[in-house]
Amino acid sequence: MEHIKDKRTRTLRDLRISVTDRCNFRCRYCMPKEIFGADYPFLEREEILSFEEITRLAGIFSEFGVEKIRLTGGEPLLRRNLPVLIESLYNVSGIKDIALTTNGVFLPKHAKALKQAGLTRVNVSLDSLNDEVFMKINDVGRGVKPVLDGIRAAQGEGLEVKVNMVVKKGLSDNEIMPMVHYFKREGITLRFIEFMDVGTTNGWNYKDVISKKEIHDLINSHYPLEPVEPGYVGEVAKRYRYNGTDTEVGFISSVTESFCTSCNRARISTDGKLFTCLFAQSGFDLKSMIRGNASDDELKEAIRNVWEKRDDRYSEIRTEESQASRKIEMSYIGG
Ligand code: GTP
Ligand code: 5AD
Ligand code: SF4
Ligand code: SF4
Repeated sequence: MEHIKDKRTRTLRDLRISVTDRCNFRCRYCMPKEIFGADYPFLEREEILSFEEITRLAGIFSEFGVEKIRLTGGEPLLRRNLPVLIESLYNVSGIKDIALTTNGVFLPKHAKALKQAGLTRVNVSLDSLNDEVFMKINDVGRGVKPVLDGIRAAQGEGLEVKVNMVVKKGLSDNEIMPMVHYFKREGITLRFIEFMDVGTTNGWNYKDVISKKEIHDLINSHYPLEPVEPGYVGEVAKRYRYNGTDTEVGFISSVTESFCTSCNRARISTDGKLFTCLFAQSGFDLKSMIRGNASDDELKEAIRNVWEKRDDRYSEIRTEESQASRKIEMSYIGG
């Protein structure tokens, strides 16, 4: 096993894999339905990495010391037989933590099989507890209950659950305190995500961002917060707990307090491209190499090359005005 470092001396540690570019929701800030409509060119079956291909890549990444894999999408539970993939990833030596980021709706159906296959944790996206508001966000008329049922189902199977809430001005900013009250009572970690300029279709504007500081101060005025040490170098969320409790809140402050300096994540898109930043404009085509019969050593060499050339720090250099003009959609690269 060997560790590799990029140009900014950041070690490759985590791998995020998008298993589908499709979703059953059309969240306004992620897959607005005017664009992701019936004619949207989602990937065809043969373009998507197979479970065997994903597992093979995971094995190669683990040789670089990657221990943590997160499955994302789109909605990863739309990928058929996902537990089969999880089980084969679980059997890759060196992989110690397999997590899933999901909208939660299909968890009641799949939580048991996911846990049995070796999944350890789920992060469930939920921006409001109010049906009307939530329907406006997901834009497919889904109420809150199926998501809460999903969270319960995951907890019931012993999966560790965190909740992710995107805060966008005018859309979900009034939901912050109701979410805090509820998840504090439930003892579930709630994490606030600043609205990010991912992709080019979500109409991002700096004015719609509510900062970590604003959210922190609001919560702190109701329930005093104290900082919690990061669990490891490069953890995305800044962690706090409600004074005198074990219940945490987190902030993913990609816009106002970027965390590129310690970013150790590689991403594999649904169609097998390797991206070294959420905001990258293009990725390295691992799938063509695999399907062109490259050996494990050749794949390993290619990954090493990409990582060692890596210089990304998009959130650090983005300013209010200077977003990149053409970026990859999050549903495809996998948040
Ligand atoms: P944990 O391992 O549970 O801490 O998960 P995580 O926070 O790494 O992953 P999750 O999928 O829950 O992501 C939460 C939010 O953080 C999403 O909006 C992601 O897009 C965002 N995020 C994750 N990694 C990065 C990153 O490297 N850069 C930026 N800008 N955002 C990220
Ligand atoms: N800004 C911030 N977070 C986003 N997510 C999707 N799009 C955006 C955006 N534009 C979140 C989802 C999910 C996580 C994977 O990314 O809500 O919690
Ligand atoms: Fe689907 Fe998650 Fe994007 Fe919403 S944020 S459209 S649930 S992938
Ligand atoms: Fe990493 Fe890019 Fe996010 Fe910075 S913006 S933390 S480099 S993925």
